[in-house]
Amino acid sequence: MSDTKAQLTINGKDPIDLPVYQGTTGPDVIDVRSLVSKGVFTYDPGFVSTAACDSQITYIDGNAGILLHRGYPIEQLAENSDFLEVCYLLLNGELPNPDERNIFENEIRYHTMVDQQIHEFFKGFPRTAHPMAMLCGIVGALSAFYHDTLEIDNHEHRIRAAIRIIAKMPTLAAMCYKHGIGQPFMYPQNNMSLSENFIHMLFGTPCDRPKVSPTIAKAMDTLFLLHADHEQNASTSTVRLAGSTGSNPYACVASGIAALWGPAHGGANEAVLDMLYEIGDESRIEEFILKAKDKDDPFRLMGFGHRVYKNYDPRATVIRGICNQVLEELGAENDPLFKIALKLEKIALEDEYFIERKLFPNVDFYSGIILKAIGIPTSLFTVIFATGRTPGWIAHWHEMLSESYRIGRPRQLYQGSTKRDYPR
Ligand code: SDX
Repeated sequence: MSDTKAQLTINGKDPIDLPVYQGTTGPDVIDVRSLVSKGVFTYDPGFVSTAACDSQITYIDGNAGILLHRGYPIEQLAENSDFLEVCYLLLNGELPNPDERNIFENEIRYHTMVDQQIHEFFKGFPRTAHPMAMLCGIVGALSAFYHDTLEIDNHEHRIRAAIRIIAKMPTLAAMCYKHGIGQPFMYPQNNMSLSENFIHMLFGTPCDRPKVSPTIAKAMDTLFLLHADHEQNASTSTVRLAGSTGSNPYACVASGIAALWGPAHGGANEAVLDMLYEIGDESRIEEFILKAKDKDDPFRLMGFGHRVYKNYDPRATVIRGICNQVLEELGAENDPLFKIALKLEKIALEDEYFIERKLFPNVDFYSGIILKAIGIPTSLFTVIFATGRTPGWIAHWHEMLSESYRIGRPRQLYQGSTKRDYPR
């Protein structure tokens, strides 16, 4: 924290000195906490220019298209690391040495199975239930099973809860899929890596355990890695807000799942595929670009734009590369949806409306094409996003609880009726 100051003068009154703090990088922040004692609030619907906390986990430079996890560029992590190592990095702050990696991998491996009672939960859901509805409900109920990790002020409890949630999310995600298609749940195999296991639990059956393609498993792993964390996005901020009341970690992650579900956030990957299907042919792209630009039309180009990135989302660039690899591996390089996506991206990036508003493809634009090519139904896409984002959610929850924190309680600009008496 530094002794730099900002001054605020309201209606000609004496100026108010406000401390200004510098981070290790990124914009300075003005500490406005003293304003409530002066009888005024700041006003920032959507928190466009509000720093809700300080954090050491992830840094984004939206103008430069930079994303760092504990200082490591996402491109380098995607190239050299894997999802499990990034989970460790987000949670602990440093890359694991070989022993630490081995211990962490085993801790995750031996927590991938879920309590058998949880299998019964699915019987209550219709086969047609949206997978996010099932995931949200079941993760919220996990605290009913794990009473040994509910002391949120206990560091060991927090780490054990984090490991449990990271380990079980792929299993629960696969169970949501299996329930929807009427197939039996597959148990995680201890001789498989996390992402290989996920593909196995999705597509294996008691009658047939197809060999998991290393290319597909690696693509899945990199997708999880690229979704692992993203600073104070809507769902992570929801997890932090829930955590600030002292809620248990399972309830906090369930609140993050609920927030991620929206099409403006994690639901966009599902919405991108629906949009590409609706476009249907490259000849109709211009029609949809016009719709996206029409203020009277609520349609937006799904997978484009971002609150923070006013440049390419670095994750989208990596995912586009994976798209090529997976489609080639599957002999689907002429996938019509991929061709529409490539053409849509090219046209949008040449259009003044998108250039002026710095609307670039985001993480969701290409991920759905990979998932569809792997054979994953659109309805499961956001569940996969949630599985990838789990380490980020729980790392922020853990970071907040490791420091002093207060219950989150924003204020408002009141525009309603002033005091009036009840009519006699
Ligand atoms: C994720 O926060 C995170 O980090 C999120 C995320 C993560 O990893 O957690 O990165 C994941 O959520 C990615 C975003 C996925 N969502 C979508 O792809 C849905 C489509 N995108 C839009 O809904 C929108 O771009 C948002 C929600 C992503 C950002 O909304 P903002 O910051 O509130 O932007 P805005 O509404 O202020 O838009 C600014 C202008 C507006 O036009 P004008 O009023 O200035 O004329 O850009 C326009 C918007 O109408 N605009 C779009 C558009 N996105 C913004 N116009 C057409 N298509 C779009 N996609």
